[in-house]
Amino acid sequence: MDISSYMPVEVLYGKDVLLENGNMLKALGSRCLIVTSPTGAKKSGALDDALKVLNEQGIEAEIFGEVEENPLTSTCHRAGTKAYEFKADFILGIGGGSPLDASKAIAVFATNRHMSPDDIYTAKIEKAPLPLAVVGTTAGTGSEVTAISVLTNSATGFKKGVGGKAYYARLAFCDPKYTCSMPYSVTVSTALDALAHALESILSYDANDLSDVYAYRAVELLSVGLQKLESIKSAEEIYFETRDLLYSASLFAGLSLNLTGTCYPHTVGYVLTERFGIPHGRACAAFSPEFIERGAKAMPEKAEKIFEAANMSHADFVALIKRLAAIPELSLPRDEIDRIASRWNDGIKNFCRTPGGYTAADAKNSFMSVVKPI
Ligand SMILES: [Fe+2]
Repeated sequence: MDISSYMPVEVLYGKDVLLENGNMLKALGSRCLIVTSPTGAKKSGALDDALKVLNEQGIEAEIFGEVEENPLTSTCHRAGTKAYEFKADFILGIGGGSPLDASKAIAVFATNRHMSPDDIYTAKIEKAPLPLAVVGTTAGTGSEVTAISVLTNSATGFKKGVGGKAYYARLAFCDPKYTCSMPYSVTVSTALDALAHALESILSYDANDLSDVYAYRAVELLSVGLQKLESIKSAEEIYFETRDLLYSASLFAGLSLNLTGTCYPHTVGYVLTERFGIPHGRACAAFSPEFIERGAKAMPEKAEKIFEAANMSHADFVALIKRLAAIPELSLPRDEIDRIASRWNDGIKNFCRTPGGYTAADAKNSFMSVVKPI
């Protein structure tokens, strides 16, 4: 058995955990930079709750509300400068994957003033980042419990993950009520992201016995949740119980992902988001069926356990993913595909972890199975 693991985030889960535990923020300092997107945190009610709690605790707060989807390293650097100038003691990230991932980088930039925006992928972190607390408002990313920050390199326009122990939050407030304002389409896409995390964890060469426990549980919950989502058509029909199920599933998937990382569907999926604006979860799910196929050949027992956890046949499970991912017909000129494929090499970690051996040439073929060359 192997249950080697590391996960230092203090996770508080349940209704009103932020409102009831404001004193835990006080322990992080008396000046706070809130990091969020222009709308999500407000709409979810999380921003109002956070401001109330910070006020109760006598913590002075400023808001950086400019985090875009697929956040740019330059945006994070700008916010890091703001945190530095405000003399923030800690960062409070509120939102889905983009604000939470950005808040991790901002905590690094705030103290490591020698870094330029795109240095974040390579420069040494010389000073401890500012302490970070996060409040999740979507149910997919798992960023609350991972040491991973996926950013868009402002120099190249490429999405890429950066991570390490410096990227963990200290505190994660996980209240499913904040996920209730997600529109239907975002709920589906984020649930597919969580499923991709679980699948890419189980079928990874880096999986261990603990990551499997988390990931199979996520598959169990997400199978129920995704079938429920397919049976309805609007966010008004998603009751709190389903929100709770989907949010807890995303955290189980995040806990597994934190131990294993992801495989090629994430790497190749990033391009669907960059080039076609397809939301992250659906972009990864576009490659899930092929990934499961590879897994079923290389790790048939584990694949079988996935279908058992989902309580569905291989064919039905894949069909469900395809229907919900709903990837339109996509195409690009062949030379454009060649250019895209040139960014991949055989040594990419996500490829090396993929079952059955996976190369840059395989990545190009996977990409062309979704984006037809013209
Ligand atoms: Fe993801």
